[in-house]
Amino acid sequence: MENGHGELPRPTINIGYDGHSSQGASRKCGTPRTNPGAFPTFPYELNLANMDWKDIHIALAGITLVSFVARGLGMALQAGWLNAKPVRILPHVIDTLLLGSGLYLAWTIQQFPGTDAWLTAKLLALLAYIGLGMVALRRGRTLAVRLLAFGLALGVFGYMVVVAVTRNPWPI
Ligand code: HEM
Repeated sequence: MENGHGELPRPTINIGYDGHSSQGASRKCGTPRTNPGAFPTFPYELNLANMDWKDIHIALAGITLVSFVARGLGMALQAGWLNAKPVRILPHVIDTLLLGSGLYLAWTIQQFPGTDAWLTAKLLALLAYIGLGMVALRRGRTLAVRLLAFGLALGVFGYMVVVAVTRNPWPI
């Protein structure tokens, strides 16, 4: 059925959607949920049919975290699949897309690393996360060094999320 503006209504698939509209230029899909008790308990609402770059950015951040934790477990268990080509290449693709989507978002809000401290902090933190990840998964000489680097990388990841949400490089 037409909606009076010459447009057909767009079908939406909502996960954990709470009835709060999040469409349009100023929509806040990817904003903290207003019904945190509902299933699933992911702290952001994800509206699949209306994903924007921020949703994609957040999804990529989630994918990089899941992939990093999985590879960390593989490292601790000395799993052979860690050396498989896709497992070695895909994380670089994901991190490049994460960086690209972040830089694109920065351009859309006209705030930039080097000018806006929270984005400088995020970019440096992403580099630290990647470097620590390399030590954790490949370069660390002993298991203790690898586990330490793994824990620090997770801490840096958490820092990036808090900086993103607060837009403050010193969020504590
Ligand atoms: C592992 C790395 C990263 C994680 C975990 C991450 C996480 C997030 C999260 C959770 C948000 C949503 C914040 C909100 O609730 O408003 C966000 C937004 C944003 N991120 Fe990232 N991010 C990462 C890397 C980057 C990088 C490298 C850049 C660019 C240098 C960047 C630029 C942005 C911008 C500009 C926004 C705000 C978009 C807006 O409010 O319209 N991010 N990020």
